[in-house]
Amino acid sequence: MMNQLIDKLKKDHRLTKEEYIALLKNRDPELSEYLFEKARNVREQYYGRDIYLRGLIEFTNYCKNDCYYCGIRRSNRNVSRYRLTKAQILACCREGYLLGFRTFVLQGGEDGHYNDTMIVDIIREIKSLYPDCALTLSIGERSYESYKAFYDAGADRYLLRHETADPIHYRRLHPSSLTLEARKQCLQGLKEIGYQVGSGFMVGAPGQTPESLAEDLLYLQELRPHMVGIGPFIPHHDTPFSAEPEGTTELTLFLLGLIRLMLPAVLLPATTAIGTIDPAGREKAILAGANVVMPNLSPKEVRDKYLLYDNKICTGDEAAECRHCIEGRMQLIGYQVVVDRGDSRALDQSST
Ligand code: SAM
Ligand code: FES
Repeated sequence: MMNQLIDKLKKDHRLTKEEYIALLKNRDPELSEYLFEKARNVREQYYGRDIYLRGLIEFTNYCKNDCYYCGIRRSNRNVSRYRLTKAQILACCREGYLLGFRTFVLQGGEDGHYNDTMIVDIIREIKSLYPDCALTLSIGERSYESYKAFYDAGADRYLLRHETADPIHYRRLHPSSLTLEARKQCLQGLKEIGYQVGSGFMVGAPGQTPESLAEDLLYLQELRPHMVGIGPFIPHHDTPFSAEPEGTTELTLFLLGLIRLMLPAVLLPATTAIGTIDPAGREKAILAGANVVMPNLSPKEVRDKYLLYDNKICTGDEAAECRHCIEGRMQLIGYQVVVDRGDSRALDQSST
């Protein structure tokens, strides 16, 4: 019965809310294995066994927001705050390029210090130095005009997780200054402008239910993003959620498999968070349908300051170490890291 729902998702790329809830509530190891095999097949049809790298540059840990789950939230006075200069960001790109990265992801807290002019200037410089690379921004909610200016300056992609598509759950995770409506409007705007858009959510965030997860899946089904970032929620000791339990590898993998079947050509990262709660988490994610890994390119001096959650891996490693570590890990499970921008194979297909 549950197997049939998986077959249906593979064939139609959509299910109803009740069907997603049924799958989530009735999953067991056998069903998961059935799902993962299908997800691997679909991924291989589109991308073979190639794994795409994204070089993550965490350029600021200042944030004006106060999300209850996040270690760099404004109210956390114990964070030692930093900002990278344009020269430091460019040095990360240079190193990354030599290591074979062809996508750079500029990620940070919502930091007003970097106004539109500064961001545009950084984008222009990176794109003129590395015209063969894709540039992804992940800097939170900004106006439509700002998003448009960044796109016109050369940014190709934008990552903005919707976090949860259930408005009541959204309230549980964020102060009232942040709304699901605003988040969704940003994502809609980004799509309209022409970005390759990435959305996603945390698995096992406090208050999450099978019903709210089904809402997340329905939202992704409707938005049809090019990328979906999901990883387990992990508590950070200096946040209101410090005593909450972390999300599980098992449920994260199950959701990765479902998302691969729903959006066959999606770019799906094996996140640092899943590698943090499970030493083999990233490998397991690849074997459940993921095809992207995002090693850190941030300078070693600031790595441990971008602590979204406790025990984050790789905070003491050089970019080159992570790059080679990932390559080795992927090889061991029969996959290869490629030097490629790794664009979505669905870019011109509205149906997938
Ligand atoms: N400020 C930008 C934004 O809000 O989109 C980008 C940076 S934000 C820190 C990146 C992502 O980290 C968030 O979308 C959230 O899902 C994730 N994150 C934050 N705290 C986390 C935690 N405690 N456990 C797992 N993921 C977390
Ligand atoms: Fe950083 Fe393995 S990915 S050390």
